Amino acid sequence: MGRRNKIYEGKAKILYEGPRAGTLVQYFKDDATASNAQKKATLDGKGVLNNRISELIMVRLGEIGIPTHFIRRLNMREQLVRQVRIIPLEVICRNVAAGTMSRRLGIKEGEKLPRPIVEFCLKRDGLDDPLIAEEHIHAFGWASQAEVDEIIGMTLRINDYLQGLFTGVGIRLVDFKIEFGRLPVDDGHQVVLADEISPDSCRLWDRETDRKLDKDRFRQDLGDVAEAYTEVARRLGVLKENKHPNLAVIANNDEG
Ligand code: TYD
Repeated sequence: MGRRNKIYEGKAKILYEGPRAGTLVQYFKDDATASNAQKKATLDGKGVLNNRISELIMVRLGEIGIPTHFIRRLNMREQLVRQVRIIPLEVICRNVAAGTMSRRLGIKEGEKLPRPIVEFCLKRDGLDDPLIAEEHIHAFGWASQAEVDEIIGMTLRINDYLQGLFTGVGIRLVDFKIEFGRLPVDDGHQVVLADEISPDSCRLWDRETDRKLDKDRFRQDLGDVAEAYTEVARRLGVLKENKHPNLAVIANNDEG
């Protein structure tokens, strides 16, 4: 790993040059940040859990026809992905009011929304990822009309699928954030799902108790963050038992 070229280091992941042209290795760190990196911690095992959870979700989404950057998991902390040019948008889909939507619109956290709502934020840490309208995306050329339409369509399909997946394991999908990239193809490019989908980028509540099983445990100092991520992984079947974060219990004999 030491000899590989680092392409980019973000808050929770590192991207390395991949083994073949057009590929990257996505490494999941244990670092957690919130409030635009003003709050930082290391959570033992988080990277391993997010790697597994995101793998499962990307594979399943691929199976229902959502194009993704995911190729395969390499080991406990790394996955091989296709190199894409990230579209500078954080695409948020919400089913239940929480976080900034509750604060902005005065809707009580936990209130079910009349229908899924897709929002766009500009991916720019220096500005705290501001909420933007589709108008801004078109006017500033961040994505074309056709790309935005495709992104909204894919986001709603992903939401439908993930709601079902999580409902099946007793979890309410409150909201999530995804990112898309442009993958070069023969005659141009294709928009594909990129980055990760994990408890770092979703709000996940236990359906019976409303217990938060996501990064809000870290943002709001609720404690037991890694235990909650472990619980999500266990329910999704990527951990054999709910022991945190004894990485020996990762299912399927991880090779890494
Ligand atoms: P939101 O409520 O807008 O922001 P915050 O987390 O600051 O209260 O977030 C909606 C969902 O999207 C939530 O699950 C967190 C996720 N998200 C990210 O993972 N990264 C981001 O940069 C943003 C803006 C949201």
